[in-house]
Amino acid sequence: MDINYKELIAKAFEARKHAYAPYSQFYVGAALLCKDGSIYQGCNIENAAFTPGNCGERTAIFKAVYDGHKDFRAIAIVAGKDDEHIEFGGPCGVCRQVMMEFCNPKTFEIIMAKSEDEYIVKTLGELLPFGFGPENLA
Ligand code: THU
Repeated sequence: MDINYKELIAKAFEARKHAYAPYSQFYVGAALLCKDGSIYQGCNIENAAFTPGNCGERTAIFKAVYDGHKDFRAIAIVAGKDDEHIEFGGPCGVCRQVMMEFCNPKTFEIIMAKSEDEYIVKTLGELLPFGFGPENLA
């Protein structure tokens, strides 16, 4: 299936507005495209005890899995301290590992965006080479 990069990035920007990040002030939005075309949005949600905080990417993935989706095509990520300084937000190691559980490392695309027109696309396999996943236990 084709990916509408602009639409997915716009959804990630929208999701970033929901971020709860009073400790880092680093606001992350993600939009996860399922293979059936549905899109799940997520944001980072921090916590006063720090470690229970959740990344935007995992929020989107967990929402989708709860709803019965396990086949994913791509995720767009938008991250930055303020709206004027959006970075190319590479997913953290824990999020890469969670992606590895559900996504094909050869085809799942990770879109790190500064704007709807400026973005980097990498496969999960490029960001997590020799990743450990369900097939290793099969
Ligand atoms: N964060 C994400 O949401 N995604 C990432 O891939 C990197 C980090 C969040 C976690 C925390 O709320 C804040 O950014 C600063 O680390």
